[in-house]
Amino acid sequence: MNNMKSTLVFLVNRMANNVFFPGLCIKSLSLLGLVFIQPFHVNGSTVDHNRASQLFQLCGVCHGSEGHGKRDILAPAIAGLPEWYLVNQLKKFRNGDRGAHPDDVAGLKMRPMARVLDIGSRKRNPKNGAWHYENDEEVQAVAQYVANLKPKQPKDVIEGGDPVKGKTLYLNCMGCHGQKSEGMAAMQAPAQTHMEDWYMLEQLKKFKSGQRGAEDTGKYDPTKPLFMSGTQAMAMRGIVTATIPDEQAMKDVIAYIRELGRGSTNEGHTVAAPLPASSEQGNSPAVTGEKPNQP
Ligand code: HEC
Ligand code: HEC
Repeated sequence: MNNMKSTLVFLVNRMANNVFFPGLCIKSLSLLGLVFIQPFHVNGSTVDHNRASQLFQLCGVCHGSEGHGKRDILAPAIAGLPEWYLVNQLKKFRNGDRGAHPDDVAGLKMRPMARVLDIGSRKRNPKNGAWHYENDEEVQAVAQYVANLKPKQPKDVIEGGDPVKGKTLYLNCMGCHGQKSEGMAAMQAPAQTHMEDWYMLEQLKKFKSGQRGAEDTGKYDPTKPLFMSGTQAMAMRGIVTATIPDEQAMKDVIAYIRELGRGSTNEGHTVAAPLPASSEQGNSPAVTGEKPNQP
């Protein structure tokens, strides 16, 4: 068993750096997944912590052993993301709503990993040939495990963003991501307090280009308000397209989101950077200097 585990980890390591053969990766990983993950499959809905931590070993190869991300392979920090968001995203990767676009290099690395989860329950519809998964136990288990990992304030690497301009742009984001970027389950919008700036930039570009958030295009009705049309991810895409004109604006809004993040906890930072004195009055913790005790 241990041998098999190290083979899997080795393979994943290779894949982490392999952007050329995603199709091949999916096949080889699915095969390995069948033999490797299947034995941990138990019936019943209770989440088995051991199974979750075993599954997480696979994730840790790319996302880091504590889930704090590895930028060189474009794998973001995932520790402490809300459980409902993790479940949503893993299912999206698994069914191809995310990470299936041919230009989405990072998504193509992640997608085969999600497809291994609950692979024992994968069934093919004889009528249309489409695959589906009959249960989500491993998705739930690993999501709960990741949600319980301790998040860390990331190091900022993107330069040239203006948080003052970003604050104005963020007015368009608040309705879903929350005033302090704490996230909102009702809108399916994740917390961004511990999200890496480079990763947010990658994602905003993907939403803008349609690599992300363009699923279910058939449901999208541009004549209706965004919140009433299509999926929340499509609404997110619509907002970015409408309010963030270019890369500079992306950097600006990200610089402000990072200020909100640093204000939410001091962890990993000696001081929360204040906004320049010229900025308008606001009630964000970065401006008032309060540090609410929340991740
Ligand atoms: C081969 C490397 C690799 C492995 C192994 C891997 N991931 Fe990922 N993961 C990535 C990359 C790269 C991305 C970024 C995708 C993107 O840019 O859209 C990602 C993105 C994600 C996201 C989206 C984060 C967000 O904020 O939306 C989640 C959740 C995630 N991975 C969870 C997992 C879990 C759980 C596992 C283990 C079952 C796992 N990953 C294994 C590479 C990997
Ligand atoms: C209509 C609600 C809504 C609005 C408004 C909105 N978002 Fe989002 N955002 C979402 C949802 C929902 C997701 C998750 C999409 C998915 O499921 O793939 C998301 C995802 C994101 C992500 C990727 C997070 C990750 O972990 O991968 C970033 C970055 C982001 N939003 C930034 C912004 C910014 C910046 C704005 C303002 C310009 C904004 N959002 C406005 C709903 C919204």
